[in-house]
Amino acid sequence: MIEIDFQKYLLSKKNLDKRSINKDVFKSFLRKLLALGKNNTKIIDVGCGTCSLVEFILQSDIIEKINFCCMDTDLINLKLGKKNIYNFAKKNSFNIYKSKDFFKIRKGDIDCDIFFLNSDIFSQELIDNFYNRDVDCIIANAFIDIVPIEDAITVFKKLLTINGFVYLTINYDGITTLRPSFNDFNFEKLLLKEYNKTMDERKLNGKLTGGSNTGSKIYDAFLQNGFKIINFGSSNWNVFPENKKYKKNEKFFLKTMIGFIYNEGLNRKNIDKNKLNVWYQDRLEKINNEELSLIVQNTDILAQIKRN
Ligand SMILES: C[S@@+](CC[C@H](N)C(=O)[O-])C[C@H]1O[C@@H](n2cnc3c(N)ncnc32)[C@H](O)[C@@H]1O
Repeated sequence: MIEIDFQKYLLSKKNLDKRSINKDVFKSFLRKLLALGKNNTKIIDVGCGTCSLVEFILQSDIIEKINFCCMDTDLINLKLGKKNIYNFAKKNSFNIYKSKDFFKIRKGDIDCDIFFLNSDIFSQELIDNFYNRDVDCIIANAFIDIVPIEDAITVFKKLLTINGFVYLTINYDGITTLRPSFNDFNFEKLLLKEYNKTMDERKLNGKLTGGSNTGSKIYDAFLQNGFKIINFGSSNWNVFPENKKYKKNEKFFLKTMIGFIYNEGLNRKNIDKNKLNVWYQDRLEKINNEELSLIVQNTDILAQIKRN
């Protein structure tokens, strides 16, 4: 079993996520926020982890007054998000007022409140916190595949205001490609298929989670649950050692990715464990030599609720 440092992994993919999110869908999302014309827009970042999406929105520099609620069920991940936002605000010369679970950050016309909430998306506590149903927007990065999609959409509907919208980024869509291929091409193909299957078989509270094809499934799921799609596009992770050098943190990111695949392979009956070990050593060596490249297919979606 390979030990995974999950918080370090989340941080290692922050810049990769930033350059991978679909720019067109992001622009549509910002346009929607601007069109609200409100001076106190309410946004919840669900499964916020590093709060990377909040950081991307703040970097866009166009929204002046937002009330963010960053929520995560894991206290350690939530603390990481707090630290990340604090470092971002400091580095970018925001004035920061800080108490235990609340930041106020200000610079020029930008004046944002950020609440940190340690909660589960399926807990009554979350609904109670937003009992006014006045949330303008729900955002989530790399989140919806790990929960039952329809249940998450049901919660979104309970939280959103009359014309609220949902912006979900980096939703895995079933294809992981490693190049150069492993010398036993069929073994790697089987391993990656089994890796997807582990996601497809995963359950939460007795229900199947989004699984490996979440990236495309969410499109129909929103349509069938009273939303219209405003924009949709690919947000693939492309990791390539240009001039034999990975971008910052991407060596660690790749090692974690092959660690995830290896660990899942250990639990699959039809994966030969000797071959798996050889595969892992080969991929690790290629990463250490800055030779391995990776493409992971993802999608981003912007959907708006249709209330009658
Ligand atoms: C893959 S991580 C993504 C984190 C972050 N959005 C990012 O991209 O860095 C998924 C996050 O969702 C959180 N999470 C998982 N299940 C959750 C739930 N039921 N309610 C709220 N957060 C949850 C995890 O603790 C984790 O921080």
